[in-house]
Amino acid sequence: MNWLLLCVLLISVVEILSVSRENFKTCDQSGFCKRHRAMQPGSSPYVVLMDSIKIFESSTVELQILNTKNNVRLLLQVSALKDNTARVKINELDPIKKRYEIPVGDALVGEPKLQNMKVLERTDGSITLGFEDNKILITSKPFRIDFINNDEAVVSINTQGLLKFEHYRKKETPPAQEETADGQESDTNNEEQQEGGDEAGEENKEETPQEEEESGMWEETFKNFHDSKPFGPSSVGMDVSFPGFEHVYGIPQHADSFALKTTKSTDPYRLFNLDVFEYELYNPMALYGSIPVMMAHNEKRTVGIFWHNAAETWIDISSNTADKNFLSKMADLVNGGSNEIPQTDTHWMSESGVIDIFIMLGPSAHDVYYQYAQLTGTTNLPPLFGISYHQCRWNYNDQEDVKNVDANFDLYDIPYDVIWLDIEHTDGKRYFTWDGEKFPNSEEMINNVAAKGRKMVTIVDPHLKRDDNFAVYKEAKDLDHMVKNKDGNEYDGWCWPGSSSWPDFTNPEVRRWWATKFLLDNYKGSTPALFTWNDMNEPSVFNGPEITFHKDVIHMDGFENRDMHNLYGQYVLQATSEGLLLRSENKERPFVLSRAFFAGSQRYGAIWTGDNMGEWGHLKISLPMLLSINLAGVTFSGADVGGFFKNPDAELLTRWYQAGAFQPFFRAHAHIDTKRREPYIQPEENMKIIRQAIIARYSYLPLWYTLFYEGETKGIAPMRPLWVEYPADKNTFTMDDEYLLGTSLLVKPITEQGQTGTQVYFPGQNELWYDVETFKLYNGGQSVYVDAPLSKIPVFQRGGSIVPRKLRIRRSSSLMVHDPFTLIVCLDKKESAKGNLYVDDYHSFNYRRGEYLHREFTFDQNEFRSQSVDVHGNISTKEWIEKIIVVGLNKEPSKAVLNVKGKEPQILQWEYSSYDKELIIRKPGVNIATDFSIQLS
Ligand code: GLC
Repeated sequence: MNWLLLCVLLISVVEILSVSRENFKTCDQSGFCKRHRAMQPGSSPYVVLMDSIKIFESSTVELQILNTKNNVRLLLQVSALKDNTARVKINELDPIKKRYEIPVGDALVGEPKLQNMKVLERTDGSITLGFEDNKILITSKPFRIDFINNDEAVVSINTQGLLKFEHYRKKETPPAQEETADGQESDTNNEEQQEGGDEAGEENKEETPQEEEESGMWEETFKNFHDSKPFGPSSVGMDVSFPGFEHVYGIPQHADSFALKTTKSTDPYRLFNLDVFEYELYNPMALYGSIPVMMAHNEKRTVGIFWHNAAETWIDISSNTADKNFLSKMADLVNGGSNEIPQTDTHWMSESGVIDIFIMLGPSAHDVYYQYAQLTGTTNLPPLFGISYHQCRWNYNDQEDVKNVDANFDLYDIPYDVIWLDIEHTDGKRYFTWDGEKFPNSEEMINNVAAKGRKMVTIVDPHLKRDDNFAVYKEAKDLDHMVKNKDGNEYDGWCWPGSSSWPDFTNPEVRRWWATKFLLDNYKGSTPALFTWNDMNEPSVFNGPEITFHKDVIHMDGFENRDMHNLYGQYVLQATSEGLLLRSENKERPFVLSRAFFAGSQRYGAIWTGDNMGEWGHLKISLPMLLSINLAGVTFSGADVGGFFKNPDAELLTRWYQAGAFQPFFRAHAHIDTKRREPYIQPEENMKIIRQAIIARYSYLPLWYTLFYEGETKGIAPMRPLWVEYPADKNTFTMDDEYLLGTSLLVKPITEQGQTGTQVYFPGQNELWYDVETFKLYNGGQSVYVDAPLSKIPVFQRGGSIVPRKLRIRRSSSLMVHDPFTLIVCLDKKESAKGNLYVDDYHSFNYRRGEYLHREFTFDQNEFRSQSVDVHGNISTKEWIEKIIVVGLNKEPSKAVLNVKGKEPQILQWEYSSYDKELIIRKPGVNIATDFSIQLS
């Protein structure tokens, strides 16, 4: 080993081990954030030039906006979109350099569909547009836009006048700037400014059409890192208000509460994909992923906005009261009277790009999920193994280790689906290779695991070791695929392998090249049972500013990383997912886990919350973190079970497994320096409880799978806050320690040490909730203390729901695919219930050709029915119904008769417990594809 290399590596590792808050910028240390935050409300220089109006395709209105301070003109485009959504775009009218816009197809799944809109009214000072039940009021002076749904103002833009659009300009020489101080027109760099000639421009001629130079506009230094800013200031920002809303949610990723807090006395929430090591809890610091999506909710409605910008972004939040004078002029305020109308004001600030906001007008939360899914796509249905249990650790050391772990799971009867290999499996951190000594026969290893229906995952990070003997690096270099530094040379930074370079994943050609690396012929030693983990893709650069790329790094078409930093990681994920598709000729669903993410990442894979700690606080925060990420569309997400750093004690580990078993992505992972902590080496009591938690996960896989199918088709997240289903219940608005899975399960994990019970809030005045283990009944609309000794996971099924489960437990999910279902029918107060089940081959894309079943189950008036809800789907399967458990049935039946079309009615065996009000119908024995009914009499 080269000693110099070793020393530098050690320094890097030591540096990363000591990462702390000081390594990351505050708003004050970020020039553009400071400039935007310093703006005072109520002094907007922007006016709309009403005569400039143009209307396109009856759905887009274009107007010019004039900055009366510097005479720069902007172009405003307001469009009505399908599905109760509007779009507001603001760009420079005539920029000296093209501003970066995220290509359609990258965050947006495609060009949004337009919708007809009418001009309802035009005055000198305003225009009112109308589409569906909405009005859009554009006011000229000062510029603002109000969105009114059914006569209620729900979203308002620039009401505080915080719009700031830093146009591209040429750098002034200092003396010229000083001359401007006396009001002379010496700001010759703005060609637009010379044009003048419009009413507002004339009006403001005497004012000083000059730009104040503020610090950090032309270059910036943070710690020892210099940002050359060759194109000068380019930031954009604006305020968005939600009149009538006290609560806003979303904008992940932050380690904070689910309901977002006001940022009056903190930094704004920051969105900038960063490798923040041992992150702190309850603060607005940036983390690994960024999704600029926010929902606002009150008792009557939900609305959302999507700030379509991938540059570093900060968001301030404050609670205020609405400007009733203005609002009452244009809308009937249902909230009227003398009461104050609460309002949440938000202020969005991005370092570059354009202003491009989608306003999703709901009115329900389900509608907003759907509207956002129309824009950025839904989570593709994962293969069944993806939503099963994953066993990971940095590192499983060699083939023998893998064999032993695999064998121990079997020995202790603990199901698992996937075993993961971290960076040490490679030949010197050269991804797509194997350490030949430790993994001499990787194919055999994978095949052995796959023989039990299991899979493997290897890590493939985006940094490439700069070694000409490493074929992937050499090829990328020769093809000129690398990201460049500001001087146009290959960017060189430090990551796990030492000196590394990064392919420019923003370039579709590079993504296509990367995808080919996953072909079995290229990735030697891999098999179709091997899947992928993309880590460090923010990207993490150990010796870079804030541990990432320099902002002046150059990507395709000369754009800087500054322009689209938050998208880089998603492009890595996309290219990898496309690689796995290529490998299977688009037949098999890919599985990729990514650490960095952006709006749209849901289309490509799963994400996790990065390097958390084995501490109770980190277990607790996993709930609000995942709720936020799920709200923002990335629904296949989880946290490292057990915590990445530190050694959780057996109690914490047990509670973490119980929580993880009811979260969408369920993977245990641990740092290389931690003690081994596989479930089977825990003290016996804990091992058994952990095994039960994993078994519970497997038993609910049919529900999870059905929820993910619903997610792919409707955009709704399996894991959701209570207010999504109980929108009028104010008690739920700030709740983030319990949540719903679909509409049928309520989950309240234990997240505190020594806790043996917990207060559970049961939503819905008229609902009944049943403990899933004991079927103990709880009435909705109250909070009840529920016992939860170590062995207990507080999970409840809603009365009125039917949940499909599989109760025969096997080694892995693929061995369960022919197993029968048990249907749990929990009755509501009217003794009825409903549920559904989605079934396909659990791994291929054949379901998209109609090879699936979507069944609906109902129980009403003593009759259970199973029928198809989707005539398009059909597949033959061996799965059948083994048992139906009806809970909450007050009267014992005297007969249960099975009716299947074309067959003789059949009397079924059953048992009834009048104490538990529970009926167990044994062996209806019907294939799941069959329509049938069971009549109780
Ligand atoms: C990063 C990842 C972690 C992984 C480690 C080594 O810290 O977040 O999950 O184990 O790198 O690859």
